[in-house]
Amino acid sequence: MYVYEKIMASERRNFIKTMSAVASGALTIPGMAQLTLAAEIQAASNRVKKLPINEAVTDETFWKQVRLAYSVSPAVINLNNGGVSPQPILVQDMLDKYNRMSNEAPSYYMWRVLDMGREPLRERLAQLAGCQADEIAINRNATEALDTVIFGIDLKEGDEVIVTKQDYPNMKQAWLQRELRDKIKLVWLDLECPKEDDSYFIKTFADAVTPKTRVVHITHLINWNGQILPCRAIADAVKAINKNIFCLADIAHSFAHIDFKIPDLGADAAGTSLHKWLCAPFGTGMMYIKREHISSIWPLFPNDKPQSSDIRKFESQGTRSFPTEQATGYAINFHDTMGTALKQARLHYLKNYWSQQVKDLKGITIHTPYASAYSGAIGTFSIEHMKATELEGKLMSAYKIHTVAIEYEKFNHVRVTPNVYTSIDDLNKLIKAITEIAASK
Ligand SMILES: Cc1ncc(COP(=O)(O)O)c(C=O)c1O
Repeated sequence: MYVYEKIMASERRNFIKTMSAVASGALTIPGMAQLTLAAEIQAASNRVKKLPINEAVTDETFWKQVRLAYSVSPAVINLNNGGVSPQPILVQDMLDKYNRMSNEAPSYYMWRVLDMGREPLRERLAQLAGCQADEIAINRNATEALDTVIFGIDLKEGDEVIVTKQDYPNMKQAWLQRELRDKIKLVWLDLECPKEDDSYFIKTFADAVTPKTRVVHITHLINWNGQILPCRAIADAVKAINKNIFCLADIAHSFAHIDFKIPDLGADAAGTSLHKWLCAPFGTGMMYIKREHISSIWPLFPNDKPQSSDIRKFESQGTRSFPTEQATGYAINFHDTMGTALKQARLHYLKNYWSQQVKDLKGITIHTPYASAYSGAIGTFSIEHMKATELEGKLMSAYKIHTVAIEYEKFNHVRVTPNVYTSIDDLNKLIKAITEIAASK
């Protein structure tokens, strides 16, 4: 029997009372200020949501308020939000608070109090994802979520899995281990991107399907250069050839960044981190499995019913941080104040703001699409005759701008990723830096 099944209705009521007390009592003065700020942001958001979207994305008064919710570094301009995102201060406060509370009596506060919040959290995540709560498992990151499916799906020798060289290394390694161990066959695609052309991606995936294809792995938003793939169209195309093909979507970079609902992707399963675009505490993630497939996927960390159709069979990870998990609810609250559609529009605007202004400088190449159907916050560029690592180093040493050099497969460029707290002033500094570095070459 699962722990959650033992929770009596009265215990749930106690939990709600305890959690409300936890949320409102004993917050620090800055914490209280953040609660007030969150209410102000909500009010401001209600105002900007009534504006036409192009006005809302450039309403700097609103975005300045959003920036105040983060502990933005005064020393460094952080333009590597593609790696991992910071948490709003209120989320940090709640995490600290739950952690301190747990340390007073860990097994009591973690297992008997905080863990009572797991089902409400599942429901909130499902709402955000647009699916049923019993299709969502809560875990620690995209790697855990996707590897659970990669290792949990039954495949036999000779079965084919379509993957791309542009997929994330952890997932490629997981598939490679299955190939080594189970003698499945990986069919590698080498995507040409940036590209604003659905038909190219659809055809590339569909052409790789054979009668032995069992799984297609689709990275919805490629972390290396910010390219969005038409996940739904690819899934539809491969399933039109064989309806039993299982599509696994890596949504680590698209969830809470691009405005979609998971069922819209046409995937049978998906995995994401929540410490990326949801700005939840570090070490939070979630897995989606379409209800009809749950029983056939084996858990990575089994419970007593590994073939059950209960999604909670995937949550036997052993002791983990309940403070981290429960502070995630505050990240959802914060995300909801602006909503994914406005957030996506702002992030895409910020990316195009800087990239459009440097694209015609001598020696500059942009490696990310411009159109909003194919890109969001992530933008990339290179300067002729300059290694990506040298460029990244120069941006940091001379301008205190933190980016990341990408030297992977065909990619050789610097990746720039703003977030909702990034100001236009920060991006003007980036544009000035790129202009000066390009002129010096
Ligand atoms: C496309 C993609 N998938 C998966 C991951 C893995 O995420 P995590 O390290 O949170 O497990 C990343 C991390 O950057 C990623 O970019």
